[in-house]
Amino acid sequence: MSNDWYSDFVNSSFGRTIAGQVGLPPVPRLRRWEPGQPLLSGPALLGTATPDGRVAKVVRSLLTDLGIEVHDDPHAPVGGGSSTSKVAAGIVDATGLSSPADLAEIQGFLTPVMRRIGPSGRILVIGDVPAEATSPAVRAARRALEGLVRSAGKEARYGATVNLVHVAAGAENDIESTLRFFLSSRSAFVHGQRLDVGTVPGFAGSSQGVDWDRPLAGRTAVVTGAARGIGATVAKTLRRDGATVICVDVPSAGDALARTANDVGGSALQLDITADHAPATLLDHAARHGGLDVVVHNAGITRDKLLANQDRDRWNSVIDVNLNAQLTINDALLGSDVFHRGGRIVTVSSMAGIAGNRGQTAYGASKAGVIGMVEATAPLLVEKDATINAVAPGFIETAMTAAMPVGTREAGRRLSSMAQGGLPVDVAETIAWFAQAASYAVNGQVLRVDGQNYLGA
Ligand SMILES: NC(=O)c1ccc[n+]([C@@H]2O[C@H](COP(=O)([O-])OP(=O)(O)OC[C@H]3O[C@@H](n4cnc5c(N)ncnc54)[C@H](O)[C@@H]3O)[C@@H](O)[C@H]2O)c1
Repeated sequence: MSNDWYSDFVNSSFGRTIAGQVGLPPVPRLRRWEPGQPLLSGPALLGTATPDGRVAKVVRSLLTDLGIEVHDDPHAPVGGGSSTSKVAAGIVDATGLSSPADLAEIQGFLTPVMRRIGPSGRILVIGDVPAEATSPAVRAARRALEGLVRSAGKEARYGATVNLVHVAAGAENDIESTLRFFLSSRSAFVHGQRLDVGTVPGFAGSSQGVDWDRPLAGRTAVVTGAARGIGATVAKTLRRDGATVICVDVPSAGDALARTANDVGGSALQLDITADHAPATLLDHAARHGGLDVVVHNAGITRDKLLANQDRDRWNSVIDVNLNAQLTINDALLGSDVFHRGGRIVTVSSMAGIAGNRGQTAYGASKAGVIGMVEATAPLLVEKDATINAVAPGFIETAMTAAMPVGTREAGRRLSSMAQGGLPVDVAETIAWFAQAASYAVNGQVLRVDGQNYLGA
């Protein structure tokens, strides 16, 4: 049993019958990642929009190397079945578009894919970066993909996702970790989104020799706000992927912090990240553990008030924890060898910083500020072969959302294209992917983890 009574009801055998009779919307059970799980649970369809496509070759070689059955024809019989048998993925190489007329090829491929995609299947459109286009017609065609994907996301059913990846010119051999993330069930709650790869010039790295079941092996990570909620799950997920984890939280959460640290076999550091000495204390502690490869800025607070009733203390506490502390810690990281070459900074923004939420002007400001911080810091990290990215959760089932008024909570769940809230692990999987050394070409990005929702916490 979860604490989502509606989902439990429509997924019970009695509830399924009633729901079918009265037309209640279903809540799909999402497939989530477990170590050893194959990248895809069945065959894939791989289309190309134009002969100039640059990424189909890379996708095909990844899938066939993994022993996955791949067909170019979206009507092909698969898995010994028929031309309507379900597939686990439909991927279209939409690079090389020369005008909006080329979009018809993508429609021709995706229409049968939408009918054939199986439960928790993956539809992935891979395009060129619109800003790199040299004519209005080319840019229009590239930009059109985003509207296509976001709309198809609202039509997909049974937990299938539809996403768009833009690949910068010359970055086509730098997309393996991104392909693996979007195709696998690590991205179960990432839906209707766009991500750009290779758009910050000067990135460097390699996917050679990665153990994809333990992609963080040998790396040391720090997670702030690790005592509970999303932070505790991030610590566990990074550990599962092979990292050594330093868990940080305020002294008043010391017992819960010690439990997380024990669970992950890591160390606990009781620290208020807004304290003047916080950056130095964090770096000293990390130096004693051999330095840092991954920093996850997860600690955050809400102090909700209508702007008309806001006061300076509440406002400042939210901006201090959610934004200023990250800025000062990042400054210290950039100037220190304790933060290793090839390091990864991942920060937790929120849908409130993108769409806004009533009563959350301070919180929304802090979480939008985090996005500005990511955009400005990304180019500064290139000389260290490091990256910074943000995850923007929507409605996630935690103590924070359990405390919402019941109406807002139900709306938060049902307004997503997946008719449910996400789980902390959905945010953690995205952070763990950003944290990989193999994600070297993903820099300055903000990825929503919200099941295509516009209500967040
Ligand atoms: N739950 C959601 O739906 C949701 C949605 C969007 C964004 N987020 C963001 O995700 C992050 C984690 O959220 P959560 O739901 O797990 O919250 P939570 O309140 O359960 O956990 C936050 C943790 O941060 C710690 N913390 C707070 N101030 C601190 C400080 N000054 N120094 C060190 N640690 C401090 C808290 O003690 C707590 O353990 C936050 O940044 C939050 O804004 C959550």
